[in-house]
Formats: sequence, C-alpha cells, structure tokens
Amino acid sequence: MYVGWGDIMHLPDFLEAKTRDKRDLKRFDYKLDKSIKNKYKGKTYFIKTYGCQMNEHDSENIGALLESIGFKKVDDYLDADLVLLNTCSIRENAHNKAFGMLGRLKHFKAEKKDLIIGLCGCMAQEVSVVEEIMKDYKFVNFVLGTHNLHQLPEIIDKAIEENKQQIEVYSREGDLYEGLPVVRANSYKAYVNIIYGCDKFCTYCIVPYTRGRERSRKKEDILKEIDELIKDGYKEVTLLGQNVNAYGKDLYDDYNLGDLLEEIAKKDIPRIRFMTSHPWDFNDKMIEVIGKYPNIMPSIHLPVQSGSSKVLKLMGRRYTRESYLELFNKIKETVPGVAISTDIIVGFPGETEEDFEETMSLVEYCKYDNAFTFIFSERKGTPACKLKDNTTLKEKEERLYRLNEVVNKYFLENNKKLEGKVLKVLVEGISDKKNMYYGYSETNKLINFTSDSELNLGDIVDVKIESAKTWSLDGKAI
Ligand code: SAH
Ligand code: SF4
Ligand code: F3S
Repeated sequence: MYVGWGDIMHLPDFLEAKTRDKRDLKRFDYKLDKSIKNKYKGKTYFIKTYGCQMNEHDSENIGALLESIGFKKVDDYLDADLVLLNTCSIRENAHNKAFGMLGRLKHFKAEKKDLIIGLCGCMAQEVSVVEEIMKDYKFVNFVLGTHNLHQLPEIIDKAIEENKQQIEVYSREGDLYEGLPVVRANSYKAYVNIIYGCDKFCTYCIVPYTRGRERSRKKEDILKEIDELIKDGYKEVTLLGQNVNAYGKDLYDDYNLGDLLEEIAKKDIPRIRFMTSHPWDFNDKMIEVIGKYPNIMPSIHLPVQSGSSKVLKLMGRRYTRESYLELFNKIKETVPGVAISTDIIVGFPGETEEDFEETMSLVEYCKYDNAFTFIFSERKGTPACKLKDNTTLKEKEERLYRLNEVVNKYFLENNKKLEGKVLKVLVEGISDKKNMYYGYSETNKLINFTSDSELNLGDIVDVKIESAKTWSLDGKAI
C-alpha cells in the first residue's frame, strides 16, 4: 500500500496480509548493491532478538547483511552505533519488552545523537505499532517488515543519507530470496529455513498476518545449504518453519517433509531436528521416516494448545482431543525413545473450568517431556478478539499455576528415569558457574557434565547420568 507520508513509504495492513492466492512466487538470488559495500566500515551494531527460532535465524541473516556494509558486531548496545530490535508479536509481553527497550534507547540516543535505531520483525507488520512509532517514537530511524529483510542495507543507507524516518513494510509476502548472507551464532548447530509463513489462521494467532502465506523453499536449495553446513563441520541442523509439516504442499504434488527428512537423513550429518510441527499435517510417512533414521532426533514438538475439543474448535486448530491423542500414540509407538514436548494456552475465551480439567487430564496422560504454557493474550486483528471471555485474569493465572505444577512434575519424573543411563551429548560449551561442560541429548535435554579428559566442543560424547532435576540433568562423560 502506498501512503503519502512525506515521502513514499510502505505501511502494513492486516486485511492485505490476510489474503491468500495461488499466484506464482518470484524467487531471486540476493545481491548487495555494490555501491554501499563496506560503506560503514568502522561502525558497530547490536541486534536484540525477541521471539521464536525463525527470528533468531533472521537475526543471523541481519547480522551478515550489516557486516556486508561494514558494520562490526558488539555485545553491548551501549557500544553500538546502530541498534536493531528484531521483534515478536505473539503475546502482549513480547510487545512490552520491545517498547521498554525503545524507552531505554531514547535515553541513550539523547547522549549519542548519531545513534541509528531500527525495528524489524513481526511487530513491524502491525499497523498500530508502526503508527505509534511514527507518532511517538520519532527517534527510531527505520522500520523494516519481515518480507523486506533483503532491503536492510539500502534502508539503513537511506535513513542515514536522508536523515529522516524510513518505513518499509510490505503487507503481503512478495518474493523469496535465496542466498542471503548469514553469520551463524553457533559453530556446530545450524538453523535452516524450509518453509516461511503460515496458512493455518488459528483464531488467536498473529503469525499468518505477520509472516504471510506458506512458502516452501525448493528442496535443491535446502539440500545445497545442508551440504555446505556438513562441509563446514556442522553436527546438527534444525529445519525451521512455523509449520514444517506443511513443507512442499505449495510447491510439489508429491514431496513432503517425510521425503525431505529422508533425503537429509541419508547425508553425513549426525543430528537432524525440525520445528514446529503442527498436528494437522503430520502424516504416517513422516512418522515412519523419523522412526527409521537414527540421525533424525527422537524429539518432537507437538503443540496441543488445549485438551478440550470444544476449545480446539474455537481456536480453529482442526483436530480434536481424540485425533491428537491418536497421533501422539502413533508417534510414541513408532519412534523409539521419543520425547514429545508441547505448547498450551490457558484462559482462551470460552474455556470453562471443565474444559481446563480436560487439558489437565490430557497432560496427565501425555506426560510431556517439556511444555511451554501461556495465558491467552488478545492480539488485535485476530478473530479470537471477538469471542466472549468470562474468565477473570486471576482465574487464568490460577489455571496456569495448576497446569505448571503438573507439567513440572512430569518433567522431573521423565528425567528421573534417565538416572544411571548413558546418553549421547553434543558438547556445546563450558558453563561459567559450575565449571562443567554442557550440551543437549538426542531428546533435547540439557545435560551438565564433568569429564576426566579435556573434550572438544562440537564432539558427540557418551555421558552417564548421575542426577536428574526438573529442567536439566547432571552426569559424567565416560
Ligand atoms: N506454529 C506453531 C506455534 C507458533 S507460536 C504451532 O501452531 O504449533 C508458539 C506458541 O505461542 C503457540 O503454540 C501458542 O501456544 C502460543 N501462542 C500463539 N498465539 C498466542 C496468543 N495469542 N496468546 C497466548 N499464546 C499464544
Ligand atoms: Fe499460529 Fe496456528 Fe500458524 Fe501456529 S499454526 S503459527 S499457532 S496460526
Ligand atoms: Fe513471534 Fe513472529 Fe516468531 S510473532 S513467535 S517472532 S513468527
């Protein structure tokens, strides 16, 4: 949408963001405008990332884009010439955190007049946020949408050269860029995008509006990226998407996540993970492949959201309690030693005490290895805002408390079963506090451990588990 705001700029619009059609995507290879390469040599940047793994990975691209025009990374925003907030819209508190940071940056900029401040990520796709920034946060130099990431170098250059606020947000996903540069945060574990966007439109969720329609990367591009990671010594890849199980549906007649996982599993990469998987698109071929290949990690995130079929329907999740449990059981039976984790929302509009009890009984049945639990947060522009909500915040907080008691009980109970067992752990580092090594098991459990001999980071070692806690396990390398 073009809006006359001094200059021509693009503002977000949820109505546009909601549209879905079958038009062909344009796919481009990213190229930096040569005239600005290294132009800002000597300048420093700091990125603050909120939200999910996709945002974390976007920040790895953002860092590389900034480095391509000469910026160098610093670890404290007080040392930076450019501060970029890569934001998340999923719940109110994510919003509040980003605005809180903008408040601190306002003070910092009062001292450091030429500080450049930018905001990107999901909040940039919300018109109310962008309007607030244009009105009350004039010190923010630029806002860049999730579909415009490739324009980052140019927009920074423009913001600096023209010395006025720039807003560049496409409401609809446009093109798909391959070959964006990347500086990875970890030398052993890498994120690989396989699909962008989400078409599920769960009634509470803002993601389909902020990230656009489901767009799969071509399998050749994904496999090529993984080959390069293997060549560079990476031990683990995590395939990313808001909905990895929808992979390929928009692109191929007969090639899905199961096929992709199988092709990757045949490569020489010790660990493959993927997230997030929506129960809806999870088919038998996927489960079979996950069970068959030892380098596909037996750790599956399977968000349930609620144990009540009535609430699931209101949420637009398109599965029932029964069909979820059927899938859950099939995965448990087919994938040896699998650990299943989940997301749960309490206090969704219309959730009664009985509905909540159904969530509690489902949790008692599933005994999850990990769970992320949230109180429903109303997101402007989503259908759930229109639903009647009779539950008070206090009641919702009580439900969350009760739920957490139960999920925590099972985390510990599952971990206790691992005492005395030997687990394979990817050595990731040494924790400062305890002077112990740490890393994750195949089922994605955090392991702190000692070793008689010195270990190389990035190695996969056997660790004997000595004691279990709710959130981690202690052991010794053998
Ligand atoms: N694509 C994933 C979820 C991504 S968002 C899936 O559908 O499985 C991560 C989690 O945030 C969701 O699973 C949900 O539990 C939570 N969430 C999303 N919107 C929310 C809202 N409006 N209020 C509270 N929690 C929310
Ligand atoms: Fe949001 Fe639902 Fe899409 Fe997950 S599947 S990102 S919860 S709309
Ligand atoms: Fe947040 Fe956007 Fe991820 S809303 S959870 S950063 S897709």
